[in-house]
Amino acid sequence: QRPVTLSTLAKMKAEGEKIACLTAYDAAFARVEEAAGVDLVLVGDSLGMVIQGHATTVPVTMDHMEYHTRCVAAGLHIPLLVADMPFVSYADPQRAVDNAARLMRAGAGMVKLEGAAGQAEVIAALAGQGIPVCAHLGLRPQSVHKAGGFRVQGRDEAAADAMRQDARDLVAAGADLLLLECVPRDLAQRITAEAEVPVIGIGAGAGVDGQILVVHDMLGIPPGRKPRFVENFMAEADSVDAAISAYVQAVKDGRYPCDEHGFD
Ligand code: KIV
Ligand code: NA
Repeated sequence: QRPVTLSTLAKMKAEGEKIACLTAYDAAFARVEEAAGVDLVLVGDSLGMVIQGHATTVPVTMDHMEYHTRCVAAGLHIPLLVADMPFVSYADPQRAVDNAARLMRAGAGMVKLEGAAGQAEVIAALAGQGIPVCAHLGLRPQSVHKAGGFRVQGRDEAAADAMRQDARDLVAAGADLLLLECVPRDLAQRITAEAEVPVIGIGAGAGVDGQILVVHDMLGIPPGRKPRFVENFMAEADSVDAAISAYVQAVKDGRYPCDEHGFD
């Protein structure tokens, strides 16, 4: 099997094949995800919450991201490896290029940053150095303190229009992929239809080109309260491998996400 590249993802969007994505933070999960047919593996800065036990992603540093990117890269050959740029690591274009270079050298094939209107210059600088970029729109966890909490984004018309404009601007600046977190399903579908690049969703309904979840969430770790968009694939599986394979199949078949996982 050939490694997944940007052209693979573009072809999947064009042909309507759903892109199955998951986070991973170490080589063990990377190997299981690869074997299950995951197309894109994200070393998310969610590791600040999942691995380090913090309440937000704000404490995560470049050293942490670089270390976990190396761990995941060691276990991965086929899926596209995307690594998150952590809090303030892309505050200006030069800093963004230097930090993205660290993640690319650690084995990433693309970096992701939480983009809004102001991020076009940073994305253009990365694109200019041949670094593929995913722009993360909607709920942006690194801005949680400014936003005053984690909540669905783009619910009123002005906010929805602004997000559509951001998506256009960031793609025009050179973003190769968009990720929408906690966005009403109709808005996510509209942005997906308008975008030339693939759009991955989390809590963004079924009308996007692919889905992503935090791997611990979809395995039911820890038990208890979970975001509405999460399905526990471990509930009906007898192994972690089987649960991750079931997730990939459910994304490919359009059985995940269902209506109940999305927002209006
Ligand atoms: O950090 C992360 O895991 C993410 C995904 C939830 C999209 O950004
Ligand atoms: Na993230």
